[in-house]
Amino acid sequence: MNQQIIAFIGGGNMAKAMVGGLCKNGFNAQHILVIEPNESNRQSLASEFGVQVFDKANSVLQSANLVIWAVKPQVFKEAAELTLPYLAQPLHLSIAAGITLSTMASSLQSQQLIRAMPNTPALIGLGMTGLVALSSVTEAQKQWISEIVATLGQSIWVAQENLIDAVTAVSGSGPAYVFLFAQSMIEAGEKLGLTADQAKQLTLATLQGATELALRSTANLQELRQQVTSKGGTTYAAITTMQAEKMPEAIHQGVNAAYLRAKELGQELA
Ligand SMILES: NC(=O)c1ccc[n+]([C@@H]2O[C@H](COP(=O)([O-])OP(=O)(O)OC[C@H]3O[C@@H](n4cnc5c(N)ncnc54)[C@H](OP(=O)(O)O)[C@@H]3O)[C@@H](O)[C@H]2O)c1
Repeated sequence: MNQQIIAFIGGGNMAKAMVGGLCKNGFNAQHILVIEPNESNRQSLASEFGVQVFDKANSVLQSANLVIWAVKPQVFKEAAELTLPYLAQPLHLSIAAGITLSTMASSLQSQQLIRAMPNTPALIGLGMTGLVALSSVTEAQKQWISEIVATLGQSIWVAQENLIDAVTAVSGSGPAYVFLFAQSMIEAGEKLGLTADQAKQLTLATLQGATELALRSTANLQELRQQVTSKGGTTYAAITTMQAEKMPEAIHQGVNAAYLRAKELGQELA
């Protein structure tokens, strides 16, 4: 793996998180090339990690075995046009939201394509990424990409591309659902007389602890909930009220709206 050359097109937040993770895991920084127009981004990548940075695509890219597309979706096609003349026949990994495999294939004139959908906790190495590959990508290549994407946190492979829209709806947009839920709990706590800081600490520690408990426990989520919900008790009062207010249905509808919008965006960016 350390002999491979990885080129990033776009050296912003996500690229920086991946470069940082690769270097931390012993990947040779001199084997990482980053094309990034923004000078302060280039300087920070070069000084923090010692990677090779360039303001625009050039012939150095010919050596790249893997090209990681980490530009905003709106500039993907333009970046592809500027970069393509310099590429040999690398494997491509795109993390640009809404850029489909078919858009990648026509812009990059390649079938060596993998599409990924990370989420924002990736920026601190606690992300969740969904991945899909064209059938021409080998298992060994997929394994290599899994290792690279592990720099952002956990990942799963899905069998069909339309499931990337489901990944977008669940984990891609998911952090914002959690933030909304947490904000509502904090506001409710404040209404009951807690300070903002107290309500925030109680809420975020509860989310963290409950998530960790769910991950470590052999019981499923419903069992875990039932264990703390005795009939006539406080949790029972809360859960029955939330269900009567149709909280589960609202979440299903919200996730579905994100799924439909992800599909639309894929078409708009095609
Ligand atoms: N951030 C997340 O949590 C997250 C989650 C899921 C998916 N993604 C996807 O990840 C991708 C990158 O996101 P990000 O947050 O890292 O964005 P970002 O910080 O804006 O980074 C993108 C970088 O690409 C540069 N760029 C623009 N045109 C270029 C070109 N032709 N060639 C090379 N570089 C070019 C931009 O420079 P200028 O600013 O000078 O234009 C910018 O520094 C996006 O497609 C996004 O959809 C991000």
